[in-house]
Amino acid sequence: MKHRFTISQLNKNGYAVCKVENFKIFKALQNSFIKNIRVSNSKKKTIEDVRKYFAKMNKAEINKSMINFITFNKNLSELMIKSFPNLIKELCGKELFVQRRAHTTINVPGKNQAKQVAHYEMISGISPFTYVIWAPLHEINDEGGAYHFDLKTSLKIMKEEEKKGLVNSPRVLNLMGKKKPPKLKFGEAIIFNPFVLHGNIPFNSNLARIACNVRFQSFSKPLLQKNTDYLKYYRLPS
Ligand SMILES: [Fe+2]
Repeated sequence: MKHRFTISQLNKNGYAVCKVENFKIFKALQNSFIKNIRVSNSKKKTIEDVRKYFAKMNKAEINKSMINFITFNKNLSELMIKSFPNLIKELCGKELFVQRRAHTTINVPGKNQAKQVAHYEMISGISPFTYVIWAPLHEINDEGGAYHFDLKTSLKIMKEEEKKGLVNSPRVLNLMGKKKPPKLKFGEAIIFNPFVLHGNIPFNSNLARIACNVRFQSFSKPLLQKNTDYLKYYRLPS
């Protein structure tokens, strides 16, 4: 499946909705998650089953179930990269630095649950040449997704903060409530650069949100603070 934006459109806006290109691999990733995640003693067959159980769990229970999760995480980076090979090749070439261990985040519905405040990825020391793909493991038809600000708005806010010597000022924190995460079909993901502000908001649902994300950049571009503890070399298959 070909994405519907040009690379210059993506670079100008800072983020775009992209589509899984290798559905077989992405489905294998989802199956591996369902197989390896431990949720009580109940039977789980579909991603919706897992989402339902997680929606009822507290943070401590979620943390506990994440412990056996390492078997799933082992080749998550590769599975994520191989799900979007053409887009990644177009952006960064075949030779890449990829995040050694991609992340899986589980967001539980409800007002008192932790949320991700608006932030941009370069805060964590990745290089300005990095891209992130954030892919939910199911469709998102509530407000449990993630929102992104376009590049122009993000840079304007960051420059203002820098001038005032602030990081995540009340203005940035208040941005959270004003933005609505987009709804996505299963197989849709968001690709974004490390400058765009993004986060999520509390949401109501009886299903938790489960999403994977991976960072990558061209092998020929300079790194910033990250080294081989964080990154590994990866060559896209021909
Ligand atoms: Fe983030």
